[in-house]
Parts: sequence; C-alpha cells; structure tokens
Amino acid sequence: MSNKKTSLLKEFRTLKPYLRHYRWAYLIGFAFLIITDAGQIVIPRIVGAVVDGIAAGNAENILRWLLSIILLAIFVALGRYGWRIFIIGSARRIESELRSRMYEKFLTLSQSFYMNHKTGDSMARVTNDLDSVRMAVGMGTIALIDGVFMTLVIIGTLFFSYGVLGLVVVVPLPLLTVFALFFGRLIGPLFMKVQERYSGISEYLQETLTGIRVIKSFVMEKKVHGDFAKVNDAYAQANMNLVRFWGMLFPAMGFLAGLGVLFLLYFGGTEVLNGHLSAGDFIAMLSYLGMLIWPAMGAGWVVNMMQRGAASMKRINDILDTQADIIDLPGAVSLPFKGGLECRSVSYRYGDAVVLADVNFSVPEGDSLGILGRTGSGKTTLVKLITRIIDPPEASIFIGGSDIRSHTRSALRRSLGVVPQDVFLFSETIRANIVYARPQADSHEVNAAVKIAGLEADLPFFPKGLDTIVGEKGVTLSGGQKQRIAIARAIITAPEILILDDALSAVDADTEERILKGLFEFRGGGTTVMISHRVSALARCDNCLTLEDGRVTTHGTHEELIAAEGFYREIFNLQKLERKAEHAQ
Ligand SMILES: Nc1ncnc2c1ncn2[C@@H]1O[C@H](COP(=O)(O)OP(=O)(O)OP(=O)(O)O)[C@@H](O)[C@H]1O
Ligand SMILES: [Mg+2]
Repeated sequence: MSNKKTSLLKEFRTLKPYLRHYRWAYLIGFAFLIITDAGQIVIPRIVGAVVDGIAAGNAENILRWLLSIILLAIFVALGRYGWRIFIIGSARRIESELRSRMYEKFLTLSQSFYMNHKTGDSMARVTNDLDSVRMAVGMGTIALIDGVFMTLVIIGTLFFSYGVLGLVVVVPLPLLTVFALFFGRLIGPLFMKVQERYSGISEYLQETLTGIRVIKSFVMEKKVHGDFAKVNDAYAQANMNLVRFWGMLFPAMGFLAGLGVLFLLYFGGTEVLNGHLSAGDFIAMLSYLGMLIWPAMGAGWVVNMMQRGAASMKRINDILDTQADIIDLPGAVSLPFKGGLECRSVSYRYGDAVVLADVNFSVPEGDSLGILGRTGSGKTTLVKLITRIIDPPEASIFIGGSDIRSHTRSALRRSLGVVPQDVFLFSETIRANIVYARPQADSHEVNAAVKIAGLEADLPFFPKGLDTIVGEKGVTLSGGQKQRIAIARAIITAPEILILDDALSAVDADTEERILKGLFEFRGGGTTVMISHRVSALARCDNCLTLEDGRVTTHGTHEELIAAEGFYREIFNLQKLERKAEHAQ
C-alpha cells in the first residue's frame, strides 16, 4: 500500500515546471496565509482578556480590546484575500496551462490512440480530472500549510501560556489525526472509482448523442435509456460508497474531537475553581482547542485531496505520456512533394489480419489511376497509408521518387488532397468548410471549386447560400452534398496528388460522371488516384487496377481490363445492365 501510495504521489512530477514558474506567487500567498493565521491566533487571547476585563468590571480596557479585535479582523480578512488571489489564482493558471497542453497533445496523437480511447473518457480527463488536480495544488496545498502552521503555533502557545495543562487538553487530538489519516487513505481508491464511472457517463452520453439518429431510426430509445440508467446508477453507487464512508468517518472524528473539550472542561474547569486559571484563559483555551480540531481532522482531508489529485494526475499523465506512433523522422524535409506516386510491395496487417499484400503500382506525374475493389478489399487502408494516418513500412510508398517518410507529415499532407469516404464537416458555414485548408482563398477560387464539385445547383436550396451553417446549428445536408463539399475542400488547395476514396458514392452515376468530367478538366495535368465502385467512373482514368483481398489482381487501361477475363469486366458488365435498366425506366 505505501509503495503504491508513493508511486501515486510521483504522478505530481508533471507539475514541477509549473510550480517552479509560479513559485513567487506561491511564496507570497504563503506569506499572506501565515499573516492570516498569526492574526487568528491572537484573537482568542484578546477575547480572554475581554472576559477577564468583564469579570473585573474594567470597562475602559474592554473598548480598546474590542477595537483591536476589529482591526485584527480586517487584517485577517485582507490576508485571506491575499492568499486566495495568489495561491488559488496560481492553481487556476496551472490548470489552464495543463489543459492547453493536453489539447495540444490530443492534436498530435495518432489514429491508434483515438481507436483505443473513447472521446467521452478523454473529455472527462480534460475536465473532471483537471479539477481535482487544481484542488490539490490550490485548496489542498493551502490546507496543508495552514494545518501544519496552525498546529505547531497553537500547541506552542498553549504550552508556553498554560504549561502542562495546555498540553493535556490536546492529548486526544493526535488520536484524531491518526484516525483521519488512516481512514483518509482508503478514500483514494473509492474516489478513483468515482472518476472512472464519471468517464463512463461522459462516454455514453457522447456516443449516444452523436448517434442519436441511429437510435431513433431503430427505435432504440428505451434500450438506450435503460443502459444509460445502469451507467448512471453505477456512478451514483460509486458516489454513495464515498458518501457512506465519509458519513461514518465524520461523526467518528467529531466524537474524538469532543474528547479534547471534555479534557479541558475537567482539568481546566478544576484549575479555574482552584483559582489557578482565569475564566478568560479558560475561554481562550477553549477557542484554541476549537482552532486545532480543524487541522487535526483536516489532515485526513488533505491526504484525501492529495490522493484524489494524484489519481487524477495519473489519468492526465496517461495522456501526456502517450507518444504519437506516427512521427516525423529525424531529418525529415519540410518541402512539399512533387511528382507521381509509387507503391513498392506495400503490405499491411491489422494485428494478424493481412489487409494489403505486396501491392505494387505507379502513377506517373499527371496520370490518373482508378482502383476497383469489393468492400473490405483494403482500398481505404491504402489511402490511410499514403496519407500516413497509419504508418507504411519504410521505403514502400514514394512520391516523385522520395519515400513519403522522408518529408514531414505536414509537408506530405499539404501535397495531398484527400476526399475521404466518410466525410466530416465542421458546424460552420459551407464556405468555411470549403476554405478550411486554404483560408486565404478568394471568392473566385471558392466559386470555381463549388462549380467543379457540382454544388452550384444546390446553393439556391440553402437559406444563405455558401454562408449557410452546416450541421446541428444549421442545414442538414444530404450525403451527396457533403461529399461534394469535401471535394471542393480538397481541390481548392490545388494538391499535387488528389485522392478520391469513393468520393461520389452518394450521387447517381450520371451526376458522378458529370462532376468527374469537370474535375479532370480542371485538374489538367494533376496526378489523381480515384477509388470508386462504379466502373463507368473509372473509365476516365489512364490506368486502373483491381484490388481483391488486399492483392492487386489486374492492372491496365480500362479498355484492356474490359477485354480480359476477371473481376473488372464482371463488374463492368453487371453495371452496364443495371444502367440500361435504370435508363429504361
Ligand atoms: N483499424 C482497423 N483495425 C482492424 N481492422 C481494420 C481496421 N480498419 C480496417 N480494417 C479491416 O481491414 C480490411 C480492409 O478495410 P478497408 O477499409 O481498407 O476496406 P475498403 O476496401 O476501403 O472497403 P470499403 O469499400 O467498404 O470502403 C477490412 O477487413 C476491415 O475490417
Ligand atoms: Mg473504404
């Protein structure tokens, strides 16, 4: 347990540079804290003096004492303001800097991370976990310093002012501390559970709200609600365990704290009766005792808060320590690529499943290649390899004769224009989505891209044309409209190589042909790779290949491929019949 505890505390190592950066703010904050504490410690003495003054019937001094209490109270209030500003303020800034660092990390992480981490869980780490780290470096740290200082000074004051009696009354307090510390340690794991379950809720919400349309169309509301209730209950349960634990701990600590007062009533009371102690001193001691109970009990609270912080820090470190597995190699060139595309014996597997095996082809600069393959044959995987969303083996994919790994990823991606199979658009205007990678594009360029992508005819249907907002806050686009916006977004960057991954699957064959005609004219001598499940679209390419179970089975011009036996011709004939039937209708 102690081993585990120290290792958990080591998680705070991430905070070192931040704490160093804010060390002056912390030191000033601590100074204010000590001033506040010192002021508080003087007050019981004054109250004692007032009580004794009242007992002696000395009204003159009382007024003076009362005035000094007011001054002290103002002093203490200012001190409190000071430590709050400096320490809580620093904690807030550290929180904000850490959050920003996490976000930056999220942006660098590769697809493998996002496949293994649910979005909801990542979100919980940036919000909930960061909150508990802030509590640890803010209130937790304050409570620690405050508790240690108050305890030492009050015990010192009690001893020096009241001798042995002063020590006798605090005897039960260490018991309270030991008790609080011992049980406080058990809080860590309970709290970890709470955070995990909170992540569970966040994940479930994120997933079901994103997939709300599927849920509704399959009438799964009841089931989903039932499942949510389970996740929600689990969270409540974890919190209840924590509450129950506190519920037992708190009264037990209150009882132990009460023992100190009993001691004082008995021993102190006897001394007052004997005339060895004044009533004012008795009251001052009672106040001191009250002031000591908090730090004695607070020790458990501090440990608890630090443990929560450490547990959360661990979950944050898990993110910060994750290394992106796709990185720029040392010496990677940041110039864009120029030239044609070549795959040399590209093989790829997901775990044990071979997805691509010995894929060879080359697309000379200015040429176009069409790829036909059944679903699951590895086409999208090939695109991901070319774009380094997943990393290809060394010296297997080349552009203009250079290994794509020899340039930086940003240089590579700037050289490529990809229209992915599953289009994602931001909840912004259509225009903002189109100029996403080229914000400086002027309206002529935008209009040209819109025209080539075949979007022109749709614009009158959008309430604000190109300035209509897409998605949740605006218009709902059809699949084909989304795809065409994605095409406009890709071509507006004038990429060296354009890759279309089934980019027009949601429009009809005639529209596809019309758009492709314009696209090929516009691209002129641009290199293009086009994946399509329509042979009619592929006919436009200089060369075509078929991919079956991750292998290139045939390769040649459209004419060559329809002349030969094989998959390509099979699909060609099938689709010819289909279109005839369609046109006949
Ligand atoms: N991240 C992944 N982990 C494991 N297997 C994967 C992963 N992505 C794809 N696969 C598998 O690899 C194979 C090829 O997938 P890929 O997406 O490349 O096919 P595709 O040819 O693009 O299919 P489609 O025409 O349906 O788009 C499939 O069997 C798929 O299940
Ligand atoms: Mg695919």
